[in-house]
Amino acid sequence: MIPVNELIRGYNLYRDEYEARAIEVLRSGWYILGRQVEAFEKEFADALGDGCYCAGVDNGLNAIRLGLQAAGISVGDEIIVQANGYIATILGIIQAGGKPVFVEPDEYYQLDAERIADAITPRTKGVCLTHLYGMATRMDRVLEVCREHDLMLFEDCAQSHFASYRGTNTGLFGDVGFFSFYPTKNLGGCGDGGGVVSRNKDIIDKVKVLRNYGSDVRYHNIEIGINSRLDEMQAGFLRVKLSHMPELIANRNHIADRYLSGITNPLVILPKVAEGCNHIWYQFIVRVDDQEGFRNFLKDAGVATDISWKVPPYLQPCMIDKYGYRRGMFPITEAICDSIVTLPMMDVMSEEEIDKVIETVNMYKGNS
Ligand SMILES: Cc1ncc(COP(=O)(O)O)c(C=O)c1O
Repeated sequence: MIPVNELIRGYNLYRDEYEARAIEVLRSGWYILGRQVEAFEKEFADALGDGCYCAGVDNGLNAIRLGLQAAGISVGDEIIVQANGYIATILGIIQAGGKPVFVEPDEYYQLDAERIADAITPRTKGVCLTHLYGMATRMDRVLEVCREHDLMLFEDCAQSHFASYRGTNTGLFGDVGFFSFYPTKNLGGCGDGGGVVSRNKDIIDKVKVLRNYGSDVRYHNIEIGINSRLDEMQAGFLRVKLSHMPELIANRNHIADRYLSGITNPLVILPKVAEGCNHIWYQFIVRVDDQEGFRNFLKDAGVATDISWKVPPYLQPCMIDKYGYRRGMFPITEAICDSIVTLPMMDVMSEEEIDKVIETVNMYKGNS
């Protein structure tokens, strides 16, 4: 079976470097918030762009929560998000005290800038978009609308490490960017990890306080913080992977290019890349009418697939109960969730595997 993703492949690519780093960290005798974390924060921020600062945290959810808090979001503030985004973005907003307000995505699955204005109320503080599946959102219009309505802009970049729009990396368009370094992410560790980035150093300094019990210096607590520290081992592993990002992105681009040119089945809708947007292919998403039938056909032929995700966040039980959302409120999102299928995409795939995915998808005939 060709898996949707298989992490051991990525590990094996740089095994010697990962293992040398693990030994270095183990022998250093310092395991949380140390030299590796500081080095990673600097290397990642420098790689993203000029004037960028980064605070490493323990996962992407807390990056969202603490980044929003550090930017001043608090109880009752409304944040506009795309309805087809990931639940973690929504949880981060709620845990920061905010209230998510959903809008439909555009034809590229990204937040539709044209729908922001209608969702604004007197309590709206900002927009938090997710560059979903690895493609940068078309930022021109988003920035214009945010400026026009004096809204803060937050970017969930958990799926978009080094995806760019007209030359700027995601995470640097708005006030704050949030990253996850969960193992499956393009820049993923061998455990949990996350990062907050901003060109505003005060915000990053505040996240560094919040992530460590709210303390600025040891045993002196100036904020009601949490424990959200990034450990040395993960930072060390992330430094290894970060140094190889260009070739890893090239690998994924090659796989995506082959899918895009090879898949010709009219029953399968391919992803579109908007002009000016660069895609890092965190996931390769196609759409079909018969989601389950298509997935079963591929599975029987030895190609695993996934759905990212079948139930959108506003229809999750915890959201329905709390906010009273119902099916039918966001038909574009629901149509997406009912038709998307994730094809295999990972750090390394052989040409034979890529061929097999393409051939199998092209053989699919639907119900007819
Ligand atoms: C869009 C998005 N936001 C946030 C997260 C949360 O990241 P983590 O799993 O590191 O908490 C994820 C990862 O799964 C994600 O895909």
